[in-house]
Amino acid sequence: MKNFHTLHVLSLLATIGTFVNGQGEFTLACNALTIQRGDPIISPGAISNHTHIVIGGTAFNRSMSQDAAPNALATTCSAAIDRSNYWQPLLYHMQSDGQFEAVEFQGNAVYYLQRACDYADNRTSCPTGFMPQAPPAGLRMISGSPLLRNYTDTFAQRAQSHMCLTDSTSVYTNSLPTQACLRLRSQVFFPSCWDGKNLDTPDHTHVSFPAIGDYNGGVCPSTHPVAIFSIFLEFFYDTSPYTDWENLVYAMGDITGYGLHGDFLNGWTDIDALQNAFDTCGSNGYSLSSPGCSITNGTVQGAQTQQVQIQPPYEDLGLNKSVPVLPGPNYVTGSVADRTV
Ligand SMILES: *[C@@H]1O[C@H](CO)[C@@H](O)[C@H](O)[C@H]1NC(C)=O
Ligand SMILES: *[C@@H]1O[C@H](CO)[C@@H](O)[C@H](O)[C@H]1NC(C)=O
Ligand SMILES: *[C@@H]1O[C@H](CO)[C@@H](O)[C@H](O)[C@H]1NC(C)=O
Ligand SMILES: *[C@@H]1O[C@H](CO)[C@@H](O)[C@H](O)[C@H]1NC(C)=O
Ligand SMILES: *[C@@H]1O[C@H](CO)[C@@H](O)[C@H](O)[C@H]1NC(C)=O
Ligand SMILES: *[C@@H]1O[C@H](CO)[C@@H](O)[C@H](O)[C@H]1NC(C)=O
Repeated sequence: MKNFHTLHVLSLLATIGTFVNGQGEFTLACNALTIQRGDPIISPGAISNHTHIVIGGTAFNRSMSQDAAPNALATTCSAAIDRSNYWQPLLYHMQSDGQFEAVEFQGNAVYYLQRACDYADNRTSCPTGFMPQAPPAGLRMISGSPLLRNYTDTFAQRAQSHMCLTDSTSVYTNSLPTQACLRLRSQVFFPSCWDGKNLDTPDHTHVSFPAIGDYNGGVCPSTHPVAIFSIFLEFFYDTSPYTDWENLVYAMGDITGYGLHGDFLNGWTDIDALQNAFDTCGSNGYSLSSPGCSITNGTVQGAQTQQVQIQPPYEDLGLNKSVPVLPGPNYVTGSVADRTV
């Protein structure tokens, strides 16, 4: 535990509590792979509505097939066999002249957690030590909706959150922050329950949050009876230049932050190794450096710098200089006054 960033450990506990049926967890660190208007889950083969920041396997492209990710040549993540892709909308800053500039991305942490348990008749809590399934090969899923501009206290909306870090405090909100932050973490928790059949469906409802518990763990519903490993994403941004916190806005034009969302496309090259991670990578998680750890064999690489294998067509996304409108185009919607939760 000592050799992992204390900040991340504290953040995990502060953010997702100690709702556990098992203690298993491990964490990967990843760098950005590509920033582009690509989204093979929501907009397969097409240009996406808004800009995403993508991490993980280098095979990412708009039209990648269900089985393409594990064949990626490399990954930006710290476990070499994780060729999955994970993405979120890019965070922008609206300047005083009305133009938009991308906020600098600082890296990412991906948590895998042993939190949910299978549906069973009359089950109201998870048996201690219940081991969920590793996400099946080819699974694709999303959490959150880019269209939301209001908060309703559902598991699905509780799963999207922000942590504002100053030099003395960490302030948790579901909305974008309501104060200046040195660093902002955009956090997405994925559904932990699977229908047991579909790797994806047109409306992406083949996965669900638990029926009993909370967004971050508990008993799965009868419609989605199979518990899978829970995945939690933290994307870090350097917000220190922006004391005008009210001008932070997501790529889809969301100034509230309630439209934060994440996507996951499974690219682990060895699902059995993933399945065994909680049992082999050190008790209580955090240790991928144990020699017997099934997903590393004890060799943990740092977050990697890699190029995506297929570059998207060039487009000015406001990465180096500002752009007059958010790529899409997307216009700012919602109100800063609605950052209430
Ligand atoms: C793109 O955005 C428009 C308007 O915001 C929306 O109606 C449409 O469903 C979006 N398309 C996708 C693929 O998300
Ligand atoms: C994206 O990846 C798929 C393989 O999954 C490949 O067939 C396709 O040609 C790639 N797309 C582009 C634009 O190269
Ligand atoms: C679940 O509870 C119902 C009602 O008490 C009971 O009839 C049923 O046998 C229980 N099922 C199991 C598997 O325990
Ligand atoms: C660990 O070592 C075994 C035996 O050499 C090998 O089959 C396996 O692919 C390795 N796993 C990883 C994650 O490197
Ligand atoms: C934008 O910045 C990135 C990295 O900072 C650099 O690799 C890229 O070449 C720049 N693009 C343009 C068009 O200047
Ligand atoms: C929902 O969001 C819209 C757009 O920000 C706002 O106009 C409206 O007042 C909000 N509704 C509620 C019930 O908060």
